[in-house]
Amino acid sequence: MIIRRIWISHLTYHPILAYNQYQDMSEPSLPLQITSFQEYQQVYDRSIADPEAFWAEQAETFHWHKPWDRVLDWNFTDPRVEWFQGGSLNITENCLDRHLTTRGDQTAILFEPNEPGDPEVKLSYTELHTAVCRVSNALRALGIGKGDRVCFYMPMVPELAVSVLACARIGAIHSVVFAGFSAQALADRVNDADCALIICSDYNRRGAKNIAVKDVVDDAIALGCPSVRHVLVHRNTGEAVKWNENLDRWYHEEVDGQPASCAAEVMQAEDVLFILYTSGSTGKPKGVVHTCGGYMVYTAFSFLNVFQYQPGDVYWCTADIGWITGHSYILYGPLLCGATTLMFEGVPTYPDASRFWQVCAKHKVNQFYTAPTAIRALMARGNRFVDGHDLSDLKVIGSVGEPINEEAWEWYHEHVGKGRVPIVDTWWQTETGGMMISGLGGLSPQKATFAGYPLPGVQMALIDKNSGEEVSGNPASGLLCVKFPWPSILRTTWGDHERCRTTYFTTVPGMYFTGDGARRDADGMYRIIGRVDDVINVSGHRLGTAEVENAINEHAQVVESAVVGYPHDIKGQGIYAYVIVADGVPAGDTLREEIVAMVRQEIGPIAKPDKIQFVDELPKTRSGKIMRRILRKVASGDTGALGDTSTLLNPEAVESVIAGVV
Ligand code: WT7
Repeated sequence: MIIRRIWISHLTYHPILAYNQYQDMSEPSLPLQITSFQEYQQVYDRSIADPEAFWAEQAETFHWHKPWDRVLDWNFTDPRVEWFQGGSLNITENCLDRHLTTRGDQTAILFEPNEPGDPEVKLSYTELHTAVCRVSNALRALGIGKGDRVCFYMPMVPELAVSVLACARIGAIHSVVFAGFSAQALADRVNDADCALIICSDYNRRGAKNIAVKDVVDDAIALGCPSVRHVLVHRNTGEAVKWNENLDRWYHEEVDGQPASCAAEVMQAEDVLFILYTSGSTGKPKGVVHTCGGYMVYTAFSFLNVFQYQPGDVYWCTADIGWITGHSYILYGPLLCGATTLMFEGVPTYPDASRFWQVCAKHKVNQFYTAPTAIRALMARGNRFVDGHDLSDLKVIGSVGEPINEEAWEWYHEHVGKGRVPIVDTWWQTETGGMMISGLGGLSPQKATFAGYPLPGVQMALIDKNSGEEVSGNPASGLLCVKFPWPSILRTTWGDHERCRTTYFTTVPGMYFTGDGARRDADGMYRIIGRVDDVINVSGHRLGTAEVENAINEHAQVVESAVVGYPHDIKGQGIYAYVIVADGVPAGDTLREEIVAMVRQEIGPIAKPDKIQFVDELPKTRSGKIMRRILRKVASGDTGALGDTSTLLNPEAVESVIAGVV
């Protein structure tokens, strides 16, 4: 099915006019902010009846250099999705420049350091603009320009935010790698995108520890990163680092003294803004590609509506900028809307488990956005850490990253929200760029463990697994898909469009398949069940089971392995590995430690198995496929209903696997 729509009402909409008007206005215009549930329903209907008109209306509130010729051109077969074709813009002018006359002195980034006693840093919109311009000039002086890829491996410090925006300002493509990944994982990502530059710090502060991230970058370079021309090192803790004269440059030496203004590169709406790597059910992590125009419009619109942000509010998302949540809802969404966004360097449990609540009280946080795994970890430490902190400024609290269980939801509601603050459970993905299913803070009905209703412009569908047909009516359940493009849908996977097509657009022809299963209740509210593919979600971090297996199999004594997720009280899912070792190799704790070390080396600590069971064989089908369904049940302690195992190649393997459970 190929549907192409041509929208011709650009003849009646004049984005440039809208921009010129804004210059005379006291406030830059913002996308529509819905104010009641009834209005949501009306807006939703309107957005579905005429998506092009709806999104054009939102897009007009931004600063474009040139208006688009066509709002949307798409098909989900190639797939090819283009929003605001022919339009040109720079996202950082929308994040920064257009706020300067109206809120130049307002805090844009409020930085809370790892050590509670260290000074906080407040960067006003004017200061942030200047800082971004200086780094932009420094990057250009290093020979970086439009389309070049720049990799980040940094802590949550203001220089990270500033430098990411600087890339966007000069049209360089940022690829932020979470600083918990190993040297091997970093090198894989640098090489996949042929990055010309790596920006890192000397050391990261994380709770009581300092982590030598420059060493990790050195190790990645030693593994071979031929495209890297320079490593720009931000002096964070000031401890000694090894220095490679050929590559390394100090950040401050390159940046200080650069001019405080920098003309932004004029980008086409569909030029690439960034790459962000994420795991899938097969192969190595893939680089999800987002582009400038649609991503800008959607992150701002969703931020404004889900969090019901009001001018002057202090908004805090606890994610790391190494994940999509940090990209969309620490940086771009909030800054596009002229918000004050809090950036936290530390961890929830340092110096103790009350840190989040201390920070909320200290900065009078109004919107707080975190992950179920953090909620469960803090819940487990006891109520005394949260009770007694002044959380009276909270207006909306959010959850993201994995299904939130009822107990965690209730605790969040009662102890953080004091029974009064609305919770938004926001379902979305790296690939969706922005929140897709969520309540709008305080407006929508809420129900524990339900993400709720789709945002305007988002056309979800539940697909019956067997028939492949859409299930209509309520209640319903099935594979969670999206029928129609929204502005921040991924455009491709870097360097491998075919992989994008097969991963997301072939399971259900003509639709984007999310990888999740979901159900809809009688009122049409969505509840996400979880992944239906071989992706596991460990503490909100996405990992492919194949990726972990490949790392385990790197160990010389391992013959074969199978990795599955199992329910884990804090992490949501834990990693359970079944491992077959070579004949005669003693399978014990030493080998377990070596396997864990191998996974740390290949991927990073987030992927290390929680449990390793040594087995003689793995249950397989007659065609040689590992029966993961059975292994998942065994790992979950659910051995009562394994189904018919008699057709397996080796039914006796099931018994021995059950007998050896750890
Ligand atoms: C997967 C995407 C999007 C930011 C962080 C994760 C799961 C995400 C929810 C939620 C239930 C959720 C899904 C999804 N997920 N949010 N509110 N309720 N599940 O991004 O790493 O791309 O992972 O996270 O399984 O497919 P990601």
